[in-house]
Amino acid sequence: MKQITVVGVGYVGLVTAACFSDLGNKVIALDVNEERVKGLKRGEMPIYEPGLEELVERNVAAGRLDFTTDYKSALQDSEFVFICVGTPSGVDGKADLKYVESAARSIAENMQAPLIVINKSTVPVGTGDWVAEIMAEAQPKAIDFAVVSCPEFLREGAAISDFMNPHRTVLGSLDREAADKVAQLHLQLRSPIVITDLRTAEMIKYASNAFLATKISFINEIADICESLGADVKEVAAGMGFDARIGKHFLEAGLGYGGSCFPKDVKALAFMAEEMNQEPRILNAVMHVNGLRRGMIVERLKDLVGDLDGKTIGLLGLAFKANTDDMRDAPSVDIANALMAAGATVRAFDPVAMEVAARDLPKVAMADDAYSLAEGVDALIVVTDWNEFKHLDLERIRDSMAAPVLLDGRNIYFPDQMKSLGFTYRGVGRGYNGAGEVQTEVKVPTNAV
Ligand code: UDX
Repeated sequence: MKQITVVGVGYVGLVTAACFSDLGNKVIALDVNEERVKGLKRGEMPIYEPGLEELVERNVAAGRLDFTTDYKSALQDSEFVFICVGTPSGVDGKADLKYVESAARSIAENMQAPLIVINKSTVPVGTGDWVAEIMAEAQPKAIDFAVVSCPEFLREGAAISDFMNPHRTVLGSLDREAADKVAQLHLQLRSPIVITDLRTAEMIKYASNAFLATKISFINEIADICESLGADVKEVAAGMGFDARIGKHFLEAGLGYGGSCFPKDVKALAFMAEEMNQEPRILNAVMHVNGLRRGMIVERLKDLVGDLDGKTIGLLGLAFKANTDDMRDAPSVDIANALMAAGATVRAFDPVAMEVAARDLPKVAMADDAYSLAEGVDALIVVTDWNEFKHLDLERIRDSMAAPVLLDGRNIYFPDQMKSLGFTYRGVGRGYNGAGEVQTEVKVPTNAV
């Protein structure tokens, strides 16, 4: 059992603190936001993450997890401190490190004994060295410390599972002994631990996210070509995915990637490349293709319903993806604003994100559920792939709409079924003009498994 401090209680920090406490460590989680800390002490979660509330509650009750705003008490007796603060995009794409700097400085000013400082925030390559410089300069008196990079690979909505079952843990440090101690914290997770230097560890994080984003822009481009050539991108992706070199994940065509990581990380990596006079050709193409997706869906709607002026359009889903309330760079915001700019009235339903979304979309009327959303609308757009949208009573939906037009931005429905129900249906990359469905069968001979 070790004592760990976590600085920053957001999507990454709160999950990290809760999971390390669940592994039997004593964890003090610190945030400068007093309201957030008070809420957590009352058992109120500042974010929506499946399973998190129970995990926090159980470990607080067991005395393994606590919350504070005070650095000195938070660091007392801790051997490790994780920096999990935000690194938002600056205007030019460069990561804004003001929160990392503030955390590093506060740790340096309040530490009373040697510490291993683990940077989990996604930071530009080379920042690890910079954190060490800040701390050395800010310490009132020299106390030993080491900096280790330990990038996070947590998907929102699956963050606890991803923490407890990582594909790998990546550690980077110039101090191998410190890295080995951080590796010990992760041994119970029984997954590969990659120990390398600071810059390589930070680059593994960026390159991983950039590659996943590339897969998404790739399959979205293939989807557009499929519509011209009459192929079904869902079946194309399935056929591709059997190849272990490709893999079946992150090949779902749709509205492109959003969220707090891919947009920021791809932009930041491209910025780093350009700073070193390297032209990020593929990264620029990935961002360009991704940027076209939201406008594409609005143009496609115009093809289906004509002039948008005076029409009422319903958005099924608002969050950037299912199982989260996160609206950061959510496609729904750009889509709703483009529809309203064209004179449409926009209504929306999201199982979880409506309260958060209302701040970005004050003119969008929020419905109580998918069925009340559908009442009287001229068209519905599937924007977020929530499971609860996949088994709606589509006849009831159809009968309450002003016109049975459904634009499936996430390909959650089956085109033939939708056509037989009388919908004017379009998916993304589903055969000619996105409305077809290709019958595909997969036979796996028993001796092949
Ligand atoms: C991502 C990385 O997966 C995670 O490892 C990293 O630590 C943080 O960033 P996250 O942003 O939470 O996690 O979501 P993810 O599930 O990766 O999806 C990212 C975006 O891509 C979402 O907008 C999602 O809708 C979209 N997506 C994902 C697709 O459009 N198609 C896919 O096949 C998969």
